Amino acid sequence: HIRRMTAPQITARKGGDPIVCLTAYDAPTAAIVDEFCDLILVGDSLGMVVHGLPSTVGVTLDMMILHGRAVMRASHKALVVVDLPFGSYEDSVETAFRNASRVMMETGCQAVKIESGSYAAETVSYLVERGIPVMSHVGLRPQSMHVMGGFRARGRDTKVADEIMVNAIAAAQAGSFAVVVEGVSEEIANQVTAAIDVPTIGIGASAQCDGQILVTPDMLGQFERVPKFVKKYGNQLEATRSAVSAYANDVKARSFPGSANLYHFKKPAS
Ligand code: KIV
Ligand code: NA
Repeated sequence: HIRRMTAPQITARKGGDPIVCLTAYDAPTAAIVDEFCDLILVGDSLGMVVHGLPSTVGVTLDMMILHGRAVMRASHKALVVVDLPFGSYEDSVETAFRNASRVMMETGCQAVKIESGSYAAETVSYLVERGIPVMSHVGLRPQSMHVMGGFRARGRDTKVADEIMVNAIAAAQAGSFAVVVEGVSEEIANQVTAAIDVPTIGIGASAQCDGQILVTPDMLGQFERVPKFVKKYGNQLEATRSAVSAYANDVKARSFPGSANLYHFKKPAS
């Protein structure tokens, strides 16, 4: 029995060994990610990479809970953080607490993440004071894609860079145990990392962040097109396509099932 990483242990890694994070949405992937990562995020990216939605805006609390439960069953060491989806936390601190506590109680996860900024500082402190560790998410915030006009890197000009800095500082001061910094210039990622006293977890940010995260199916090479900031560490797309095509050929040729895959009458006992 190995105790899981805790939110304060992640915070204590500020300025220390890089914090290794990935997303997971299902049990078999979570089991592998758990071997190598400090933190597993059940990201609302699952709407796009698992369910084929055009953005994360259509993801529901029930979807997050279902996938969160699968990840919790198969992981034992990493801190598991579940994203609060669009519409589940923005309108009031009470709504945020009701939904975040439901996620924690029904999945057993140890923390939630919200796409936050100055506007959400009150929500972060409300949740943390009531027992829910919160990871914040600044920079490119996919749940705001309709306001932004798409998914584009942020903080490449000084005005937006200032806004990201203000948001990151507000998120940290409100009590976030870590802050995801997504899709920003390396310069602003470094400035944010230096400015706040909790770890920054970079994605499309900087190698100087206190940790890194990627969307696991993206880094496994499950998709042809991925954002510039993704490095493909595998070619899952090709592996899956060649396996499915070999299976289809075998079925058509009646070479599957073969003798190794078949059952026969038992020999009668003599
Ligand atoms: O939903 C997600 O996977 C995320 C990470 C990319 C940080 O929010
Ligand atoms: Na997310």
